[in-house]
Amino acid sequence: MYRTHNCGELTRENVGEGVILSGWVQKSRDLGGMTFVDLRDRYGITQLVFNMKTDAGLCGEARKLGREFVIRTEGKVTERSNKNPQMATGDIEIMVEQLEILNSSITPPFTIEENTDGGDDLRMKYRYLDLRRSVVRENLQLRHRMAIEIRKYLSEQGFLEVETPVLIKSTPEGARDFVVPSRMNPGEFYALPQSPQTFKQLLMVAGFDKYFQIVKCFRDEDLRADRQPEFTQIDCEMSFVDRDDILDTFEGLAKHLFLSIKGVEIDGKFPKMAYTEAMNRYGNDKPDLRFGMEISEMTGLVKGRGFQVFDSVEYIGGICAEGCAGYSRKQLDALTDFVKRPQIGVKGLVYLKYNEDGSLKSSVDKFYDEAALKKWEELFDAKPGDLILVLAGDRDLTLKALSEIRLEMGNRLELRDPNVFRPMWVVDFPLLEWDEETEKFHAMHHPFTSPYEEDMELFRTDPGKVRARAYDLVINGVEIGGGSIRIHDEGLQKQMFDNLGFTREEARKQFGFLMSAFRYGAPPHGGIAFGFDRWVALFAGIESIRDVIAFPKNNSGRDVMIDTPSTISEAQLEELSLKVNTKTSLGR
Ligand code: AMO
Repeated sequence: MYRTHNCGELTRENVGEGVILSGWVQKSRDLGGMTFVDLRDRYGITQLVFNMKTDAGLCGEARKLGREFVIRTEGKVTERSNKNPQMATGDIEIMVEQLEILNSSITPPFTIEENTDGGDDLRMKYRYLDLRRSVVRENLQLRHRMAIEIRKYLSEQGFLEVETPVLIKSTPEGARDFVVPSRMNPGEFYALPQSPQTFKQLLMVAGFDKYFQIVKCFRDEDLRADRQPEFTQIDCEMSFVDRDDILDTFEGLAKHLFLSIKGVEIDGKFPKMAYTEAMNRYGNDKPDLRFGMEISEMTGLVKGRGFQVFDSVEYIGGICAEGCAGYSRKQLDALTDFVKRPQIGVKGLVYLKYNEDGSLKSSVDKFYDEAALKKWEELFDAKPGDLILVLAGDRDLTLKALSEIRLEMGNRLELRDPNVFRPMWVVDFPLLEWDEETEKFHAMHHPFTSPYEEDMELFRTDPGKVRARAYDLVINGVEIGGGSIRIHDEGLQKQMFDNLGFTREEARKQFGFLMSAFRYGAPPHGGIAFGFDRWVALFAGIESIRDVIAFPKNNSGRDVMIDTPSTISEAQLEELSLKVNTKTSLGR
């Protein structure tokens, strides 16, 4: 027998019992006559004690134990004189009577403790060791509990989990596809799904009126903290529903997760905000509602007063940071540098300090007198002690920059508490987005999203203004999910493809199966997909989704542990009828 208990469960109640424990040596300490060993497994850590006086031989054995050795011990549970309230097992220790080394370990490349000395790359290379750390393990345990609650809740609501294929053809979610060559069909390729979008719509045509799936999706796109090339969606679709039926259903799921996992009760309905309003007030289609500091447009108020910087631009706007009027030159310079970074790209920052003594001091006093500056203060409803930060430039770019500086000030003022949750729906996204590169409109969401009927006329006159029956779930500034009411009519779908510049032939080739399914009685339907990794990271209070995935990829899309992507043999290439262009191949 390897164990009677795990390393996380023994308490004072077990004192006096003889037990067997197995696990990994986290660390050991020699204190003269005693050797203490922290024994770790998935469940926790238990302290083992070897006493020189009672068994010198055994104690000698214990002194030879290295980090990460796997051992089996037998001994007696005793109460600790020096208790550790931080540990679940901190009241007890095991007086060891027998020790068996089940396996030794070479010295691990980093310390496997709550705080490790291992850098990111090293931890990724030895991910199986990183996973021994409680921090990462707890994230995976959270992920597991969330998956269970999601399945439980949706099943109770009548949803069926249906698996859809992974070897498919291109799905238009806006990223590049990962493709897989077909040996049996030389020169032809499968694409991995960017989402199960088309399949879930086909399931609606098939009459499965409530579908969900916790499913892997694959997108070849630039990676960031909240993006992985393979990630997991909670993918959902419903028939015979309108937008608000869907929002209500999944608000229910979100509330269930908040309560069952975080113990947080969210009262009332989640607020809904139109896309244009979110952009105007927060500069962002995923506003963080944990704090105010909303953007106010100042264009009309400040343009045309002889200040060249403002007079020459399309848009001027600002935010008011409470209690920051005391900011030093250095702090203001740091903020200016922040907005001038290439990722943000505005030219500079104008400020107005509303000092505690009621006086106004701005960086543009030369151009705006006291009376004019008073109007700024009124616009923001500023209080003595506040600092108004103003940016100017092209409208979209400036709003984006204002959004960034708002979030930065939110961080500085500690207004973004990870234990506070402010979910919301952003609705009425534009259907189409202008792509400067191709000089074409493309679907902002995907081409199956239904436009508002009353906006159909705009297709001819001002396509950028057509609104989609689309929505995103945003929590604390994170886009957790997105979906839409779909087009279920073949004619409208064809028109949509026309508007997106697909030729009839291209549309038929890529989505003919869906168009043809629509001829056999497609019900009105709509759905949503949530980024499961993002939701887990949000609940874990962390930014990077890598830490909620057992074996993630790095920012170059590599798995450094198994060293992939990697080359394949000549024989395999030949079998797949492929030739590698050696000029572009890295030849790893
Ligand atoms: P969308 O493309 O908005 O919609 O994706 C849904 C949600 O998936 C998450 N997500 C990602 N998470 C991690 N890494 C990525 N690379 C990544 N890309 C997206 C986000 C996002 O909100 N088929 C539609 C849904 C629908 O219309 O029903 C879709 O995939 O949290």
